[in-house]
Amino acid sequence: MRVVVTGGTGFIGRPLCQKLLELRHTVTVLTRNPDAARSRLDPRIAAIGWQGSRGATDEMMTALRSAEIVINLAGAPIAEGRWTEQTKDRLRRSREGTTSALVAALAKLQARPVLLISASAIGYYGPRQDDLLREDAPSGIGFLASLCREWEAAARAAERLGVQVVVPRIGVVLGRNGGALARMLPAFRLGLGGPLGSGTQWLSWIHLDDLIELLLFLFHEAASGPVNATAPQPVTNEEFSRVLGQTLRRPAWLRTPSFALKFLLGQMAEELLLTGQRVVPARAEAMGFRFRYPTLSEALHAILH
Ligand SMILES: NC(=O)c1ccc[n+]([C@@H]2O[C@H](COP(=O)([O-])OP(=O)(O)OC[C@H]3O[C@@H](n4cnc5c(N)ncnc54)[C@H](OP(=O)(O)O)[C@@H]3O)[C@@H](O)[C@H]2O)c1
Repeated sequence: MRVVVTGGTGFIGRPLCQKLLELRHTVTVLTRNPDAARSRLDPRIAAIGWQGSRGATDEMMTALRSAEIVINLAGAPIAEGRWTEQTKDRLRRSREGTTSALVAALAKLQARPVLLISASAIGYYGPRQDDLLREDAPSGIGFLASLCREWEAAARAAERLGVQVVVPRIGVVLGRNGGALARMLPAFRLGLGGPLGSGTQWLSWIHLDDLIELLLFLFHEAASGPVNATAPQPVTNEEFSRVLGQTLRRPAWLRTPSFALKFLLGQMAEELLLTGQRVVPARAEAMGFRFRYPTLSEALHAILH
């Protein structure tokens, strides 16, 4: 199939595009910097310039015209430093803004792709205690929850154009060379890692390979709307630290106090690190998706050994 991917140069996008090639799909990446993308991506992938929220380019329209599936992964990094008003604006423009621009481009086409898979995140549910969160759970409070609601609504506007739209609510993705694990590993390798704050907050994670398989699985399902993209066994932050320490054979009891994280990172720490959500992949499992790495120790072992 002909697949167009935004954010195809990222931590999730690159291995996803590689897998798509392996499966003999034709892959085009929409990127803000085609030259840089060409030097990093497999030469069989076409890299086409776009300006994200600033609207469609002619080349982009040509790529979309022949696409059967669009996978929308673009978004500025969420976990890099404090959320100033400027940062929040960038996070919104790079998600709701780019997604709206993408859907506006689809609206101009006569023949449209059949399926749009547009990333969202478990931040949709907001800071939560111990409730098990299936896809029908209501959205929560806070900046991330409203960001995800706007992002999902922008994608689902394509339903009015007759496009099937799926919004995977992605958990913390664990893989080599990037993502949350790359930020944690230096401290844990030195034996200086440990729980954040109380450690009782839930952390819903997914192995990168399982996420990619789930996105591919959705190509052949009639599903639309939200699909939780998390492993079936979320853990608390304390448990995550313990299993990561065990996997690395390092002590992992050095707790970072809440006040230090709040002082250093403000609202970002409160919404992303010190609170969490206990998400379960109810729809993926009901559709028959089988996780290769259902438990954290299996996932970390596969990544780190
Ligand atoms: N990794 C996770 O744990 C996780 C969890 C939940 C949700 N997600 C979501 O899944 C998507 C992909 O995640 P990822 O970890 O692969 O992210 P990533 O490595 O940061 O890649 C995101 C891609 O988005 C594009 N991008 C960056 N800043 C942008 C901006 N200001 N405007 C438009 N495009 C921009 C970049 O592509 P170009 O430079 O080529 O344009 C980049 O390669 C993101 O939307 C993320 O929020 C990820």
